[in-house]
Amino acid sequence: MTIRPRRLRTTAAMRSLVRETRVSPAQLVLPVFVRDGLDEPSPIESMPGVLQHTLDSLRREAVRASQAGLGGLMLFGVPLDGDKDAAGSCGEEPDSILNRGLRAVREEVGNSLVVMADTCLDEFTSHGHCGVLDARGRVDNDATVEAYVRLAVSQADAGAHVVGPSGMMDGQVLAIREGLDEAGHDDVAVLAYSAKYASAFYGPFREAVGSSLVGDRRTYQQDPANRREGLRETLLDLAEGADLVMVKPASHYLDVLADVAAASDVPVAAYQVSGEYAMIAAAAERGWITREAAMAESVTSIVRAGADIVLTYFALELAARS
Ligand code: PBG
Repeated sequence: MTIRPRRLRTTAAMRSLVRETRVSPAQLVLPVFVRDGLDEPSPIESMPGVLQHTLDSLRREAVRASQAGLGGLMLFGVPLDGDKDAAGSCGEEPDSILNRGLRAVREEVGNSLVVMADTCLDEFTSHGHCGVLDARGRVDNDATVEAYVRLAVSQADAGAHVVGPSGMMDGQVLAIREGLDEAGHDDVAVLAYSAKYASAFYGPFREAVGSSLVGDRRTYQQDPANRREGLRETLLDLAEGADLVMVKPASHYLDVLADVAAASDVPVAAYQVSGEYAMIAAAAERGWITREAAMAESVTSIVRAGADIVLTYFALELAARS
């Protein structure tokens, strides 16, 4: 036998030399939650180690992220229950909790991190859907897109470098691009949640944002069974002017991610969602898997499949080991 692949696995130094995929803090984005009316940071039970932040603790988290060399933050806002209405209109107010969070973070870290905003209504609507409803109770695509444009402009006004429309409405990327440009925000980028699936793995996130949702999002988010459609959605977003595209969730959609990475001419992100985090955290708590190794393997696999950027709740923990 002359061909022995094991030669390249003999020592840690050799394995490191020939490693094909490396994950660096600069490509990681930490999702963070800021909640109105909190006196102190509040743990999210289904996401051990992840907190809902006050504006002050959010500032400190942003400084930590910057010092750790992360690529960016993705902000989600949790309003007071009493501020929610059917149209989710509290989100676009200049002093909405998310917009105050964006201002606070920009004040703290300037341009040393890429500051991203979730551009969606679900945190702000009384019914928890990602859009406004028509007379028959269906999510009204075009009226929702109009609301997204106002929301995105308010986020850019508040200092977001990137807006991230995550609601899977048709035409949302082009409308937001035009709205930002008209408002003089032509340098604010759009991260399109292009291939976003109606996933069971968003469960813990719904606790994190105090979601009011009854039912599901299957009329706007994609069917998990559809691979080709993930590419179609991505190509549409690219044609609409997306600066970055994303696949979400990540680990169970590596085939879609690889397709998107092969077709995209802009950087590709993947979102390791709350349920992916929670599974690793919970199994590790029980001693069934090793947290650090599982975390590293999961994110390495996402990068190996083609992600240039990974949104992950492990971002700070990963950066600490590199
Ligand atoms: C919706 C949104 C969701 C997530 C990010 N943005 C939830 C959903 O679509 O139901 C999920 C993120 C996660 O699970 O970590 N605006």
